[in-house]
Amino acid sequence: MELSDFGTKLSSHSGILQLMDDIARPLGEGVRVRPLGGGNPARVAPVEQAYRRQMEHLLSSGEDFEDLLAHYDSPQGRVSFLEMAAGFFKKEYGWDLSSDNIALTNGSQSAMFYLFNMFSGTTKGVKKTILFPLMPEYIGYADQGIEEGTFVSLPSKCVFYDDRTFKYVLDCDAVASYLEHHPETGAIAVSRPTNPSGNVLTDEEIGTLSRLAHEYSIPLIIDNAYGLPFPDIIFTDNAKPVWNEDIILSMSLSKIGLPSIRTGIVIARKDIIKAVGNINAIAALATGSFGPALAHRMLESGELTKLASDVVMPFYKAKAEKMEGYIRKYFDGTDYYLHRIEGSIFCWIYLPSLKIPTLEFYSLLMKEGVITVPGEYFFFGSEQQKKGLSYPHEHYDKCLRLNYSGDDVLTEEGVEIIARLYRCYS
Ligand SMILES: Cc1ncc(COP(=O)(O)O)c(C=O)c1O
Repeated sequence: MELSDFGTKLSSHSGILQLMDDIARPLGEGVRVRPLGGGNPARVAPVEQAYRRQMEHLLSSGEDFEDLLAHYDSPQGRVSFLEMAAGFFKKEYGWDLSSDNIALTNGSQSAMFYLFNMFSGTTKGVKKTILFPLMPEYIGYADQGIEEGTFVSLPSKCVFYDDRTFKYVLDCDAVASYLEHHPETGAIAVSRPTNPSGNVLTDEEIGTLSRLAHEYSIPLIIDNAYGLPFPDIIFTDNAKPVWNEDIILSMSLSKIGLPSIRTGIVIARKDIIKAVGNINAIAALATGSFGPALAHRMLESGELTKLASDVVMPFYKAKAEKMEGYIRKYFDGTDYYLHRIEGSIFCWIYLPSLKIPTLEFYSLLMKEGVITVPGEYFFFGSEQQKKGLSYPHEHYDKCLRLNYSGDDVLTEEGVEIIARLYRCYS
């Protein structure tokens, strides 16, 4: 079988493939699994009950259920949902938008795939790029560019605190200077909260990026999969929901209880939304109807955002505090730093004394039943990597991403084992 460049690139091994495979594949008989790896959100009872009520309502309302099953929605998404959502965002945040500013996709992962390839790759003879200004970034982006070498990135700056925590911060001057010297940049992209680090870009940082995007007439793509107003897995005060015509905001229903239903929501300028809808038609005909049908009345009534702020956010905040407690307990006496857990369902731990790369450390942990994600996958888009060298950030092969949303006992056991092995390999 001879695959095209597109086929070869997209069917090759990737970090995200390994991660999704690790979630789904059993480790072997008799191994007790501590799943701190993939991005599966937790089951949160009040959220599940709310969807169950919506489902029961659907099943008991005439032929609504059959209607839902039997029709394709429009390529831009379920029209009634788009209209309601536009009204909701306009009313809540004063955003100047209509249903023409919103499109649905089959998960925000596919939204990002569309967007990256809409704004990068050969354009009138120039190879356009996507700039990731805060590396490390989400593993799921790393292989999404169809053309080789279209993702570029800037290593984040790092601030250390004296309580063994640290925080990645945007190097605003470096971003401004990069854009000044690289007119081929087609878009800037960030996840907020950031997967993997749990960092939340501040309102000021987002303001800077948005102004730069405006100045260079390129979009700022904000992946809001964990953000505001839903699922609201944000624990800092310095983060407001934001959208303007320079921003493409990608949202998701996955981390508010519906990962299996695959619903992404893109808010952007009308011409961009039209393009996303057109790509949907070619790639998927239409988007799934179930997510918008289940969430419609909940978003409209404010129940979804209330569940996010009153249930989902406190749920993950409590989990994050427990995780920090486990880390402090078991890593005590070792040389470790924890990224401040400001949001998302992950924590990110920097192990400066690790004698082996985290890719190797990850395999040793797997043998003990602890699934993690090695840091290397979250650093991409550097010139050095094209030459076979490692990413120019001292954290490159010294960090692990740990999902803290699972069972507390298994999470604590996992952390205990990671700390034990760290002692052996430092
Ligand atoms: C930052 C980020 N963006 C996008 C996604 C994709 O989510 P979905 O396709 O389920 O909406 C994830 C999933 O973990 C994520 O962490």
